[in-house]
Amino acid sequence: MSRKALLDVLQNKIPERRPIWFMRQAGRYLPEYRKLRVQAGSFLDLCYSPKLASEVTLQPLKRYDLDAAILFADILVVPHAMGVGLRFAEGEGPILDVVADAEAVKRLKAVKTAKEVKAVCETVALTRYALPDHVALIGFCGAPWTVASYMIEGGTSEERLKARLAAHERPSWYVELMDRLVEASCDYLSAQIEAGAEAVQIFDSWAGDLTGDVFEEAVVAPIRTIATELQRRHPSVPVIVFARGAGSKHTAVAAATGAQAVGIEQAMELGAVLMALPDSCAVQGNLDPVSLLAGGERLAARVHDILETVPMNRHVFNLGHGIKPATDPAHVSQAIAAVRAFDALRA
Ligand code: CP3
Repeated sequence: MSRKALLDVLQNKIPERRPIWFMRQAGRYLPEYRKLRVQAGSFLDLCYSPKLASEVTLQPLKRYDLDAAILFADILVVPHAMGVGLRFAEGEGPILDVVADAEAVKRLKAVKTAKEVKAVCETVALTRYALPDHVALIGFCGAPWTVASYMIEGGTSEERLKARLAAHERPSWYVELMDRLVEASCDYLSAQIEAGAEAVQIFDSWAGDLTGDVFEEAVVAPIRTIATELQRRHPSVPVIVFARGAGSKHTAVAAATGAQAVGIEQAMELGAVLMALPDSCAVQGNLDPVSLLAGGERLAARVHDILETVPMNRHVFNLGHGIKPATDPAHVSQAIAAVRAFDALRA
């Protein structure tokens, strides 16, 4: 295999096989990740150590027959590079300085020359160099809405009410914050592409928080600006948009952003999304991470349902959200083998 199946699907070509990758394919469910993570010290130290981060990026590729590697980093690298204090408390998730007034927004720095961005780009370059020819390297960032919600809340929050209220009321600091995040995301993704990323994914994990014109303003418009600007700077690099929880609005997101693929959460019926999408847009995902956690016949049945629904040339096999840390690595092998066996029978 010499061609990259992932890039073929994203560029509307017939792939040699169905591309497969998994969100959070490098992470705590892998014993080799847990080992390296202990050696690195903190999660952020790991993200900013190019050699180690590249090794972690490659770990799932050593175990599994995958078609893509995703850069090992985090969506919160962007606020960190803008000068926002960030730490990951063990078992608690991220803790950030709150950015929810004009002064805090004014203090934000441009990311282009930040040392955090340089370190991540070095990981990209090291990883690209080490990858087999048929595996594509995916860069990523968080979408402005999701990243802003972490900044406004100062970390993980069950309801994100402060952030959602700001999106409704649009105080001037919030509008400025979203503009700054659009600019930072463009520069950050461009830098990753220049370092060797061959496709990029924009993660809007909390897109499902918003409705109506607020969804349009905070989810669709910022992603559209980023995707349009990236397409201008790097016309051959595909963009995958994962507006998690967008539900019936995935089609509108695809049309408005010009994405080459949209990620689909497990709650959606994949067939219905596919029918409504523009022909040039592929679907990615949809397998319930809990199916992968369960394994066995339940996993086999769900994988089969998905494969029956989507033709190979429109599909990037993936989950509806990240791999759960308690997942048995053998279940990932099972899912991959099931996809390969299904496609071999149909060939
Ligand atoms: O997918 C991959 O393998 C690439 C690496 C990656 C990570 N985070 C590594 C990570 C990617 C693409 C992300 C994206 C990310 N980070 C998102 C969007 C996707 C989603 O899950 O909705 C979000 C919201 C974050 C923010 C974040 N990072 C949180 C809330 C947490 C804590 C929760 C948790 O799972 O621990 C993280 C930490 C994090 N990011 C870990 C990993 C492997 C775990 C850190 C550890 O090793 O302890």
